Amino acid sequence: MDNRFAVLDILKGRDASYTPIWFMRQAGRVLRNYRTLKEKYDFLTLCHTPELATEITLMPVKELDVDAAIMFSDILIPLEAAGINVAFSKNMTPVVRHKGDFEFHGFVEPLDFVAQTIGNIKGEMKDRPLLGFSGAPFTLACYFYGSKSKDRYALMRKLIYGNAAAKTLDNFEKMVIDYLLIQIRAGVDAVQLFDSWVGVLPAAVYKKFIFPSIKRIAEKITRFAPLIYYAGGSGHLSSILKELPVSCISCDWRTDIVELSSEFRGSVQGNLDPAVMSADFSDVCKNQLLLMDKLSGKPYIINFGHGVLPDTDQDKLKMFVDWVHNQQQKFRQQ
Ligand code: CP3
Repeated sequence: MDNRFAVLDILKGRDASYTPIWFMRQAGRVLRNYRTLKEKYDFLTLCHTPELATEITLMPVKELDVDAAIMFSDILIPLEAAGINVAFSKNMTPVVRHKGDFEFHGFVEPLDFVAQTIGNIKGEMKDRPLLGFSGAPFTLACYFYGSKSKDRYALMRKLIYGNAAAKTLDNFEKMVIDYLLIQIRAGVDAVQLFDSWVGVLPAAVYKKFIFPSIKRIAEKITRFAPLIYYAGGSGHLSSILKELPVSCISCDWRTDIVELSSEFRGSVQGNLDPAVMSADFSDVCKNQLLLMDKLSGKPYIINFGHGVLPDTDQDKLKMFVDWVHNQQQKFRQQ
């Protein structure tokens, strides 16, 4: 029997007896119906309008049959509500304008539209979990400082070594906690923290400046809902990430998932290279089976090692989801 709440069971450490699948960046991008909506509305309007954000969130559930929905929004949305000017250029490059460092004194604009979107989705979708999300402090700070910089990651590293980023990161930490709690109060079942760019840091720097903050966020948030942590390009950080009190680690495609999952108390997610979707379908499945084989029964959620690539064929994604659903007997024997 299918267990549509398997994502939640796995995140909560319960036996799922079913290996679920969803995709980072499943809401938007590759979906034909999303692109049609995008011809009528600009991206931020889609994020700000609960009816539209609800419709887009539910698209991959209806069209791909994935086992979890992720709220349609963006990691820059809470920045706006904290009083920072955020825009997307015509070619979808995020532009963040600000003076001085980031200070968080609560949201100056209400995030009612986010709570409303979550309420709408929960009203319409009863049969699978809804995930909320936030950018992690370091990744948000990369956009905050680096919007106009040619090499935002070098700039961030310079700020960290010079201790200039410490106060800003503390302020982002407060904002992230408030933002995730708003989503949990509104009804999301679990949350994912996106630290997409943190892999640019050496391990010792991550351990000293980032680890304590992610640990504090995880300790606060997991009292109320499971938390998945995605740290992009973080293969060299595996031994540190395992010490985090998070429910699940979402693995980049470069990470050795077996090394990461050994002695980690939670579950793991992802790791399949999103570029594999351009291969023959049989190779997509082969790559996924190889991964499952290596994990041999460890609680696991199928996903990519980063977001779905924009040129991915929607129909092939659907075939992959159907294949995963049909393979359950085989997966259980792994
Ligand atoms: O996962 C989902 O489908 C839910 C919605 C979601 C979006 N952004 C919608 C979006 C989520 C979870 C995000 C997270 C996000 N946003 C991250 C972390 C995840 C990651 O991919 O690393 C980051 C770094 C951003 C910042 C951002 N938003 C960039 C750099 C861009 C432009 C380039 C791109 O990826 O398309 C966006 C735009 C954006 N956010 C789109 C969508 C659907 C594309 C909009 C469009 O082209 O129509």
